[in-house]
Amino acid sequence: MAHAKGRVLPGQHLDPDAHLAFAARFGPPTEGHPVIPGIPGYPNIFEIDYTKAREPNATYGDVVSRRQGIDWHTDVTFVKRPPLGSILNAKVIPPSGGDTLWSDQGAALADLSPSLQSYLSTLHAVHDGREAFKNILERVGKGSWDGKEFVELEPVVHPIVRTHPETGEKVLFVNPGFTSHIVELDCRESDALLNFLYQHSVRPEFIVRYHWKAGDVGFWDNRSTQHAVVGDFGTQHRLIQRVTLKGDQPV
Ligand code: SIN
Repeated sequence: MAHAKGRVLPGQHLDPDAHLAFAARFGPPTEGHPVIPGIPGYPNIFEIDYTKAREPNATYGDVVSRRQGIDWHTDVTFVKRPPLGSILNAKVIPPSGGDTLWSDQGAALADLSPSLQSYLSTLHAVHDGREAFKNILERVGKGSWDGKEFVELEPVVHPIVRTHPETGEKVLFVNPGFTSHIVELDCRESDALLNFLYQHSVRPEFIVRYHWKAGDVGFWDNRSTQHAVVGDFGTQHRLIQRVTLKGDQPV
């Protein structure tokens, strides 16, 4: 990656209070997730447990049960102010599989021709969390983000090229998890361009991959990366807790 966009600190074995305290050194934590409730007593800690996710009506079953991993996405881009970063605490890791991949979206943009970069910087995309989270929202009744409660997920619009607020780097800001279409193009054009960008943005040369051990803590910049979980761990138990930091509106 061009500059550090993430770090893993092995062997930390943090309890929820220590996880939150560590995260808070980098910025204020948000709700763990806008729709999925936090773990008991910790609204700022969201748990991803694939074993439970496969149970009928699991709180986050709709998100992961069709696959055994999580496809490429940037966390929570379907809100006006997506998170600055996420901090994972690896609680239970299978003996094999379940690695996380991250892709550098600054490098992905820089690798495109100057003409395409310049055209992309004129475009905006809609990010919509309804397909992934509408059913869960109906089950849990209401969600919350930036301290405001809601009962419906309204799609939001972000620029396709955003400027990183700290480094000034231009980064590609679309992801197949939550981007639905490009505002300025018709449907066929939008689908074709987004499909090209999704393939391009996760080329092997932009990716790092980490094999977790229980107790590891991983921290990434959510403004300039996408990530995915390799779904190669079958029915083995994998449990991760996540704290998410408050971010700003992409410009
Ligand atoms: C996530 O999408 O935040 C989860 C990543 C992981 O489980 O490795």
